[in-house]
Amino acid sequence: MLPHRSEFPTDFLFGAATSAYQIEGHAQGGAGRTHWDDFAATPGNVAGAEDGAIACDHLNRMDEDLDLLKDAGFDAYRFSTSWARVLPEGRGTPNAEGLDFYDRLVDGLLERGIKPAATLYHWELPSALSDLGGWRNRDIGDWFADYTEVIMSRIGDRIWSAAPINEPWCVSWLSHFEGIHAPGLRDIRATARAMHHVLLCHGRATEVMRGLGMSNLGAVCNMEYAGPAADTDAARKAARVQDAIYNRFFISGIMKGSYPDEVVEGLGDYLPDGWQDDFKTISQPIDWIGLNYYTRRLHDAAPESAPWPATVGVDGPLPKTAMGWEIYPEGLSHFLTMMQQEYTGDLPIYVTENGLAGNDELTGDPLSDPDRIAYLAAHLKQVKQAAADGIPVKGYFAWSLMDNYEWAEGYAPRFGLIHVDWASLNRYPKASFSAIREALKS
Ligand code: NOJ
Repeated sequence: MLPHRSEFPTDFLFGAATSAYQIEGHAQGGAGRTHWDDFAATPGNVAGAEDGAIACDHLNRMDEDLDLLKDAGFDAYRFSTSWARVLPEGRGTPNAEGLDFYDRLVDGLLERGIKPAATLYHWELPSALSDLGGWRNRDIGDWFADYTEVIMSRIGDRIWSAAPINEPWCVSWLSHFEGIHAPGLRDIRATARAMHHVLLCHGRATEVMRGLGMSNLGAVCNMEYAGPAADTDAARKAARVQDAIYNRFFISGIMKGSYPDEVVEGLGDYLPDGWQDDFKTISQPIDWIGLNYYTRRLHDAAPESAPWPATVGVDGPLPKTAMGWEIYPEGLSHFLTMMQQEYTGDLPIYVTENGLAGNDELTGDPLSDPDRIAYLAAHLKQVKQAAADGIPVKGYFAWSLMDNYEWAEGYAPRFGLIHVDWASLNRYPKASFSAIREALKS
């Protein structure tokens, strides 16, 4: 059973989240090529070399999906706009069809009484900009500001909240250091530049949106609890370094206008010249902070010859989801507390993503997914307690409204409250969807 909405503060919001490339069907509607299309077309990068060409075909099924959102009783919907759908070449001439689509999406939400929570970048960089160095090139600040202006001039008047970038750690570290996401680099200099430029873009887009008169602007960071894999000083140090890179670098840049020493120690030589001068832009005031939380990971020291950060991830003992991620709800309250006490103070916090992947071979009517219900219940309990303890956590968005393209893992891991049959693209609400509907009934 999920906790009922009456157990949360009266102004607490419940929402569901998705992203453009993961659901829309990128091959349709005049969108330009992105680095995810290129990455997926390169053998070995993505399970089954699957891409987002059709995905959930949300582009053509938007009304049905918005009806489902409303039927569940959600107050808000967190979606992203695709840069390459708006500007196929990343710059220059907009795609009228793309702008019309987002216009209809926002109106469709408002007609159903659902608050539109927009994200400007959820990972599909136009290939034309990737050719120019993508996140490594400082010019991305100008490109991103221009894209923000184009899309928000069209829909910004009706947006409830907006965040420039989804999960800066994934955009930079996972994609440029670990090579797991597009553009698939393993290069420390590229990583340092991407980490900084992603924050520069956060600041530039925020300025543009303020200039357009928009309010309720935030930032969405992902955090993963970093624990020591052993009871040793070396393992504790590895966990601390990992925590600084993953969980503190971005929020510290945004909220404090500085980077953690442990990270500057390793990346300082690779950050772009004059990086300190950008904090005026990066750490301008925002209105809320978003936390995407799923799991924890254990860390130990890498063998002695390894260069910084000299850490290795170690498999932990807790039950895992279909992503192989340990289920650790306590991590969510850890981060809500850490953020409030060390970084955000009175600023409203939203859990902007949380959810469980299954390999759903589902049966029953509705399709039975007890693991997902248990996961959501355990995490919502932590959120409820945090709110009761006085942490200003103001909302919770489930990932995801429906099964979708799970990036390098392709279509196998299913995070949805709604099952999507990949052959027919028909939608089938799962038991977790019904559980949410019960919990949200007033
Ligand atoms: C975070 C990302 O924002 C989203 O795109 C992804 O599908 C989920 N986590 C699950 O991995």
